[in-house]
Amino acid sequence: MSNKTHLVDEITGHRRMRRNRKADWTRRLTQENRVTVDDLIWPIFIMPGTNIVDPIKAMPGVNRMSVDKAVEALREAAELGIPAVAPFPDIEMEKRDPTGSQILERDNLINQFTRAVKQAVPNIGIITDVALDPFTSHGHDGILRDGVIVNDETVDQVSRAAVMQADAGADIIAPSEMMDGRIGAIRRALDAAGHQDVGIMSYATKFSSGFYGPYREAINTGGLLKGDKNSYYINPANGTEAMLDAALDVEEGADMLMVKPGLAYLDICWRMKEAFGLPTYAYQVSGEYTQIKAAAMNGWIDGERIMMETLLCFKRAGCDGILTYFATEVARKLARS
Ligand code: PBG
Repeated sequence: MSNKTHLVDEITGHRRMRRNRKADWTRRLTQENRVTVDDLIWPIFIMPGTNIVDPIKAMPGVNRMSVDKAVEALREAAELGIPAVAPFPDIEMEKRDPTGSQILERDNLINQFTRAVKQAVPNIGIITDVALDPFTSHGHDGILRDGVIVNDETVDQVSRAAVMQADAGADIIAPSEMMDGRIGAIRRALDAAGHQDVGIMSYATKFSSGFYGPYREAINTGGLLKGDKNSYYINPANGTEAMLDAALDVEEGADMLMVKPGLAYLDICWRMKEAFGLPTYAYQVSGEYTQIKAAAMNGWIDGERIMMETLLCFKRAGCDGILTYFATEVARKLARS
């Protein structure tokens, strides 16, 4: 028998990684992670009025919608199988004030939206944020007093807002304002109000990031914001601090954890999933979306391919799901294939 062994066999010890990659069927058989429609949470922007679909310039393909139009869009999303929606309100400027008091109006835009969706599209989950930034005249997530974002007073307010959002039908409260003690306070407030079944998805590690730029145009806070959010969001340099912050949220009763932004923080996704084992989500934020869209619109990258690749990478990094502005586009694509 002739010996066809090659030097490469000797070098690799007869192991060849390419054997499993040689055909479409082997590649399918060995694929470790997949994106399915069950992984998608759709963040949407809502605005007052009726019959309005208003394109957001900095986020090509994303619109602000009045509640009636949002309900229509969510009917389609639910039909596609998207499990949940995360609404963000762009409210009238005259309703914004230094304490974000509008968040405590029982019938504010976000709660109107929740009631309408619960009635019209009951099979989609609603995940609401309680940060104050859409409601404050200064664009900060908390109450501003003498140049300081005050922690405890903000926690009191977001806890009350969380109960009102749950009263309106929100399924999961997702506080993004990074105040200390907020998860425990919200849990206690929800339980005291009889909302034991309403969950908390903590924006456990929210970094002080440049990737949020287009979102601030979407809800018109960009021009309002004085200073930065460095006194409450996490420094992008700090992974260990992020883990410590997430551990406190776990102790305080978070049901789910989120990492935000997503792609530049995959190490944090992995560490959190490994450390806590809780359902873990990445938020592919506005700037991440816009980068892909803008380059694709210029013909510089294959946008659809990169959309799918980034989502798959979140799965590989241990995420159970992704908040993404691509949600409906992805769901439609998955439904076709
Ligand atoms: C603030 C909030 C932000 C986002 C959602 N809620 C960040 C910010 O404005 O500082 C960003 C979402 C995105 O960029 O897609 N509570």
